[in-house]
Amino acid sequence: MLFAHAPARIYVNEVAVRDGFQSEPNFVPTDQKIGIVNRLAKTGLAKIEVTSFVSPKAIPNLRDAEEVMRGIERQPGVVYVALVPNERGCERAIACGVDEINLVMSIGEKHNLANMRMTCEQSLAQFRRVMDLVKGTPLRVNGTIATAFGCPFEGDIEPARVLWAARQYHDLGMHSVTLADTTGMAHPRQVNEVSSAVANAQPGLPITLHFHNTRGMGLSNVIAGVEAGVTSYDASLGGIGGCPYAPGATGNICTEDLVHMLESSGLHTGVDLDLLLSVAGDLPRIVGHDVPGQVLKAGKRTDLHTEQRT
Ligand code: COA
Ligand code: ZN
Repeated sequence: MLFAHAPARIYVNEVAVRDGFQSEPNFVPTDQKIGIVNRLAKTGLAKIEVTSFVSPKAIPNLRDAEEVMRGIERQPGVVYVALVPNERGCERAIACGVDEINLVMSIGEKHNLANMRMTCEQSLAQFRRVMDLVKGTPLRVNGTIATAFGCPFEGDIEPARVLWAARQYHDLGMHSVTLADTTGMAHPRQVNEVSSAVANAQPGLPITLHFHNTRGMGLSNVIAGVEAGVTSYDASLGGIGGCPYAPGATGNICTEDLVHMLESSGLHTGVDLDLLLSVAGDLPRIVGHDVPGQVLKAGKRTDLHTEQRT
């Protein structure tokens, strides 16, 4: 039976403000970013990835990282995360008091060169210095293995390479790992196999899965992940998102659609779906265009219509 061993909670992490806003055609004003983070923080989400401390030349849309991070109201129980590519980014994140940094390396080396301008060895050397920097601080460190299920330049990624990266992260002392499907290449069987392999090889290193819905497989991949025992998922309000340095990248799985699916299946997320939908309802106005999320348009499956159309 599906979900026969249902976990007590599935943790939902919001990445729209980072993964989503980074790739928007227009800069989302700082006060709008702060407002949406504050509203999201009250919905029961486990984590919010607020911004990136990257080069403002690489990601101009997140050039206001300090202002956003310092401007938000901290909601107890929510972990506030920022993406960091290098030592400099880590120093900036510490100065703003983030709870957790997300270090990112693409295991597809060509994508890592395009995105981070580093080889994997160079990324790992940066990470080693970052880990030295955070020693003795309460900062938590998550390591993302981007393009873990396929690289837009190199195609399939050998699971052994993902296992190698997870081992490096664990040995460096990172607290958790995210397996990220940067351009929607993951399929359910692969997700189940790779997640299980990482969990077996690195017990004690909690896994988050990060999917993009580029080929319509996003929510199916979540089911495959839950069946493999993974209890933490990234998702983006409205389903916006995508890496500006990956050709053809599109949005993340949609947070409200994810919560709707999980809760419909009896899996507990701790997220207030109605509250989340009310925030999602304002997103098209904030970004200036329609967004992919479906539940917002169709209504929840329990929303009944009073009149029949002929
Ligand atoms: N924060 C702010 N500025 C930074 C920075 C950081 N963490 N790291 C580097 N910079 C600045 C440097 O000071 C330099 O500025 P200058 O041109 O005014 O002197 C410039 O960025 C380039 O620095 P350099 O060390 O030569 O880096 P690079 O050009 O090789 O770029 C990265 C490397 C990692 C900084 C850059 O590629 C980056 O920020 N990538 C992030 C991409 C991303 O977020 N993708 C989507 C998420 S997966
Ligand atoms: Zn992403």
